[in-house]
Amino acid sequence: HRHLLGIEGLSPLDINYLLDLADQQVGVSRQIEKKKNTLSGRTQINLFFEPSTRTQSSFEIAGKRLGADVMNMSVASSSVKKGETLIDTAATLNAMRPDLIVVRHQSAGAVHLLARKVDCSVINAGDGAHEHPTQALLDALTIRRNKGQLQGLTVAICGDILHSRVARSNMLLLGAMGARVRLIGPTTLMPPGIEKFGFEIFTDMRKGLRSVDIVMMLRLQLERMSGSFIPSVSEYFRYYGLDAEKLSFAKEDALVMHPGPMNRGVEISSEVADGPQSLICEQVEMGVAVRMAVLEALATHLPNG
Ligand code: CP
Repeated sequence: HRHLLGIEGLSPLDINYLLDLADQQVGVSRQIEKKKNTLSGRTQINLFFEPSTRTQSSFEIAGKRLGADVMNMSVASSSVKKGETLIDTAATLNAMRPDLIVVRHQSAGAVHLLARKVDCSVINAGDGAHEHPTQALLDALTIRRNKGQLQGLTVAICGDILHSRVARSNMLLLGAMGARVRLIGPTTLMPPGIEKFGFEIFTDMRKGLRSVDIVMMLRLQLERMSGSFIPSVSEYFRYYGLDAEKLSFAKEDALVMHPGPMNRGVEISSEVADGPQSLICEQVEMGVAVRMAVLEALATHLPNG
């Protein structure tokens, strides 16, 4: 593969290869000298059209730990604000001969379009409600390190499934790796026709959480909603917010995940987010390792590297 545009198109072999490589990068990141030179002399551009804390900073740290020269393109102060198109921006950056471009964009498909216009490797850091492949890989790495394997686990993905690229990439990855996926949320936040794909669907949180191994919470993406479809936050928390009482329906050793950013008191209580079953900080650490693995794989390991 030359690009990483989504989990769609990756085989279980590709996924395991990236997770094994990421496991090695955890070791590098835990050393005092957190440095490799596998990307020495390579140029990486981070191009984020949407806000980010975790993804952008971890791609920057990942590139630097591998020795790449990393440039963060500040879209807010760029000529995008003067009306330059995505294609012209891509052509301009391409002329500077980068080796890797990491892109986040508000429109589904924008990253695929950009990948067709440049000569370097492109990594999707989130495109609209479509895919966020490195998030699904870091979630998988976190689960694998805590539960040994993905196969046979029951994973509940809860909340605003409709607007979530994280949910979509995770459904594809977990399905490919043999985990059982349950989707829990109000009908208004389920993608139309999703029942055709064979997931178990629940509108009742307590029923859906019964005996699950992993509870994956999602942020209520109010910025992608409008008009009468915006739920009341306090009512949402009452029915779909993860608190200790609802979590007690999952297995005793169930683990809780959230991709961040979290809205405490909306989809998750602080007691659970900061509690002993939470993997949320570990997910962030694994984010750096997975991004190191993806950058290294695209730049050095795979055909056309
Ligand atoms: N999980 C995630 O993508 O977080 P950011 O939006 O902060 O990058």
